[in-house]
Amino acid sequence: MIDLSPEQFRELGYRAIDLIAEQLKTVREAPVRRPTGDLREQIMSQPLPQEGQNPSDVLEDAANRLLPYPMGNNSPRFFAWINSPAAPIAILAELLAAGVNPSVAGGDHAATYIEHAVLKWLKIIMTFPADGGALLCSGGSVANLIALGTMRHVKTEGRIRAQGFQSESAPMVVYTSTQGHSCIQKAVEILGIGNDYLRKIPVDADYRINVDQLRAQIAADRAQGLRPVCVAANAGTVNSGAIDPLNEIADLCVEQDLWFHVDGAYGGFGILAEQTVGLYDGIERADSIAIDPHKWLYVPVECGCVLVRDAQAMRDAFSLIPPYLRDDNALPWFSEFGIQQTRGFKALKLWMALQHIGEQGYRESISRDITLARFLQKRIQERDDFELIAAGPLSVTCFRYAPPGITDLDSLNRQLVAIVQQEGQIFLTTTELEGRLVLRACVVNFRTTEADLDTLLNVLAEAGQRVLTKP
Ligand SMILES: Cc1ncc(COP(=O)(O)O)c(C=O)c1O
Repeated sequence: MIDLSPEQFRELGYRAIDLIAEQLKTVREAPVRRPTGDLREQIMSQPLPQEGQNPSDVLEDAANRLLPYPMGNNSPRFFAWINSPAAPIAILAELLAAGVNPSVAGGDHAATYIEHAVLKWLKIIMTFPADGGALLCSGGSVANLIALGTMRHVKTEGRIRAQGFQSESAPMVVYTSTQGHSCIQKAVEILGIGNDYLRKIPVDADYRINVDQLRAQIAADRAQGLRPVCVAANAGTVNSGAIDPLNEIADLCVEQDLWFHVDGAYGGFGILAEQTVGLYDGIERADSIAIDPHKWLYVPVECGCVLVRDAQAMRDAFSLIPPYLRDDNALPWFSEFGIQQTRGFKALKLWMALQHIGEQGYRESISRDITLARFLQKRIQERDDFELIAAGPLSVTCFRYAPPGITDLDSLNRQLVAIVQQEGQIFLTTTELEGRLVLRACVVNFRTTEADLDTLLNVLAEAGQRVLTKP
């Protein structure tokens, strides 16, 4: 009953592939999103099935209820958050991975070696030392958590594992900018450092951390008897795509004996772009980096990655195998380097995508995303009904619909974004910059074209006019 005959499996599998192929074929014309109506109630109130059903009916029902109501990120006109479309080769890899269904905790089977191969390639892309520690994980949040967990271990000289913070003489302080992602705060809270000890340092006009103020805050904290331990720098802020001055921060970390962490969850792979030459200088000096292949490497959610320069420290921070029992003749198990024991086969989608697309293909696609963002910025500047607020240097654009003579732009833009989200022809979200509500469009999408960006502005302006003329 649970098992399917090979014939049944093949037939259902072909049907499933047909369904996905049809979606991909129509993704350009289809609305980004559709109103879900009573779908929520219908799905969430469904009772626990008591008897099993025909698998073909189950597949058709899932397709009918799921496929018309996507989140939208496979569409070329999806500009919200940082959610890319899935590279088709990586969709197939997900199916293959589930078919083999290994736990990639470690051991002598192909999946383990594939993860090692992929991690080696990711270190090359990020100019990270080949002997550094590395691990795939669920996403950027967990990658940052594992990195800062290793930092905490190192900065307590290993005491944290047995004693927690009970025997530390001074509270630790971690630094990021006001533009640091909320997951840094979450990590600081989970790790028991406490968000009272996370300093959010002001940024300059380009939304990069102000290093003079960072230095002054470190000195002030030391004077208070606190213990500065880490700077979490941004290589691609979520709000506007800014890259902190990494070399300057690396110098400061050396001078002040701080752990230099880089959150590259969004922007890490921007290092491959032709427009970013020099902007990542210093990243190769990081103690740890969080990157997120499920963003700019276009693999299906979930797939994050953490790189830690000192592989031994990473292992010591998480391994439950005492050093004297570790078998150093074999490859150490991945489960010694992070939180999970049983681990999914995330590596396959990356392995196959990297082979299909190649480093050069990624360079071109990521560069193109940035070029498209700059096209959008140029268009915004050419029009007198929009204003540009912040841009890049990566592929995020913050702007507002601002026709001449209108003063309450927060309210206007809040209302118009609600309309376009509901109607689904395009999809984008807002953010807050210096107390102002702004529209935020992120291009991490190999399907987006210049025409899609013109559509974006036209749809926004049209919705804005409706708000302004509504009785
Ligand atoms: C800069 C940055 N850091 C961390 C994260 C969190 O990554 P994830 O959502 O994969 O957990 C994001 C997500 O957008 C991000 O942009």
